[in-house]
Amino acid sequence: MKKIYDKGKTLTGLIIFVVLVSSPTWYNLVFGKGNYVPDLKVEKNGKECVKRTSYMKKNHMELLKVWRDEVVRTGNRTYVREDGEKFEISLSGTCLKCHTNKQEFCDRCHRYVGVTPYCFGCHNIPRETRK
Ligand code: HEC
Ligand code: HEC
Ligand code: HEC
Repeated sequence: MKKIYDKGKTLTGLIIFVVLVSSPTWYNLVFGKGNYVPDLKVEKNGKECVKRTSYMKKNHMELLKVWRDEVVRTGNRTYVREDGEKFEISLSGTCLKCHTNKQEFCDRCHRYVGVTPYCFGCHNIPRETRK
């Protein structure tokens, strides 16, 4: 009669399985966490961001500072993208209107990279009432 299972093969299979499943951990232990990024929930009520995603990934904080200066120094509240699309300049009202889940999006990535923007002590979620 044929054996239903073979202990040797089962064990080898099990070991391969465990190594494969834990490989991201091994990879990180050996190579550091350089290539690892958290799985972000990009909640996006729109097709595109206010600028190219590749730009936003690296430079959204620069854009936010430009936005703040526009409002505080010149009083301009309209941002015009290269293609002519217009956006209201507002951290709570524009960024967080598309990226509705701040915790799973902004906060999650910030926690990972270890930054804590101090902005939200003043800028409310949801949008603060102005004037
Ligand atoms: C001490 C309170 C305070 C903090 C902290 C703060 N802001 Fe502001 N911010 C303001 C006020 C007040 C205005 C002017 C509000 C207006 O006129 O609509 C403003 C305006 C802005 C605007 C344009 C208008 C708007 O509603 O978004 C942007 C963008 C902005 N801030 C970004 C930031 C960013 C980014 C940070 C963190 C790096 C930050 N702010 C931290 C108080 C603050
Ligand atoms: C009209 C909707 C909309 C607005 C407004 C918007 N975003 Fe986005 N955002 C998106 C979309 C869509 C993507 C692209 C996701 C993709 O390419 O998969 C994105 C991507 C991003 C990314 C890159 C995420 C990643 O994949 O790593 C960041 C960071 C970001 N947005 C921040 C902001 C900030 C800060 C603001 C306000 C200045 C803002 N967004 C305003 C829709 C928006
Ligand atoms: C894919 C990762 C990622 C996402 C998503 C992301 N950020 Fe950031 N953010 C960063 C990194 C990295 C820095 C720090 C850059 C540095 O230290 O120069 C940063 C810095 C900032 C700063 C400047 C903080 C300071 O004190 O100078 C602001 C403001 C900010 N992010 C706002 C947002 C908002 C609002 C969202 C969501 C709409 C968001 N970010 C989503 C990665 C991200």
